[in-house]
Amino acid sequence: MPASDARPDASRVAVCCDGVSCEAAERARQLADQLALPLTHADDDTVDALLTVTDERVELRAPSLDVGPVSCDFVSGPFGYRRRGHLRGELLIKAVGYRGEPLRVIDATAGLGRDAVMLALAGCTVTAVERHPVIAALLADGLRRACDHDDDTRAALRDRLVIVQHDARDYLASLDDASRPDVIYLDPMFPHRSKSALVKKEMRVCRVVTGDDPDADDLLRVALTVARRRVTVKSAAHAPSLAGPTPTVTHRGKAVRYDVYAITG
Ligand SMILES: C[S@@+](CC[C@H](N)C(=O)[O-])C[C@H]1O[C@@H](n2cnc3c(N)ncnc32)[C@H](O)[C@@H]1O
Repeated sequence: MPASDARPDASRVAVCCDGVSCEAAERARQLADQLALPLTHADDDTVDALLTVTDERVELRAPSLDVGPVSCDFVSGPFGYRRRGHLRGELLIKAVGYRGEPLRVIDATAGLGRDAVMLALAGCTVTAVERHPVIAALLADGLRRACDHDDDTRAALRDRLVIVQHDARDYLASLDDASRPDVIYLDPMFPHRSKSALVKKEMRVCRVVTGDDPDADDLLRVALTVARRRVTVKSAAHAPSLAGPTPTVTHRGKAVRYDVYAITG
């Protein structure tokens, strides 16, 4: 999908380099080219968001927000901590129904990839679909760095996680019967989000480029026709369910909820 198809149409996004290496400068030029976005300087506060290439990573900055940059980090911070723990005990893993057997999952709202990576590290085979090219670029950078980090992570993610940049409704509708996944996982950008400070910051910055996902009901409708076993939808604990059938079962955490729609027949 070209960058010009991204929503919301009104948000102005540019690419910049905020590093000293030639590699960072070259990478910024490549990204600007690839995403058909203007190349600007790191102090540009006339844009809504800056996809920034540093010497270490690719970050998203929103000059108008009072929060720091967002990037994908799958090896340290809270994610690294959780990753070392017992992933099978995570509510997400239960909500997709993973019990150690081969399970093909399409994460149709990949975002910054935390859920997709957790599913892959737990043992699921995951296709992570993200429609916004800027968010997909952050995700690809995070995945590249995680794979560079250690052999185990590389082995797990290389074989079990694929990123697709596309609108998931079209992507799902294009799958032939043999490619239909066991589970489709959705985590659309709701206006009501978890109160966790980290999620709040990340989602605020991402939302500058993606906006909300008002077509999430339609994505659920398509997902229910494609998944073989279940569709799992994550939301804030007290947010309303997506429009459609009543969930078969609901898993509740402190801040989040997973509505599970079992596929019958
Ligand atoms: C709340 S974020 C997902 C966060 C993600 N679960 C994580 O762990 O980082 C929602 C993302 O879904 C993407 N999205 C929403 N609808 C989509 C669709 N129909 N196809 C592909 N991506 C979609 C948005 O662009 C946004 O990046």
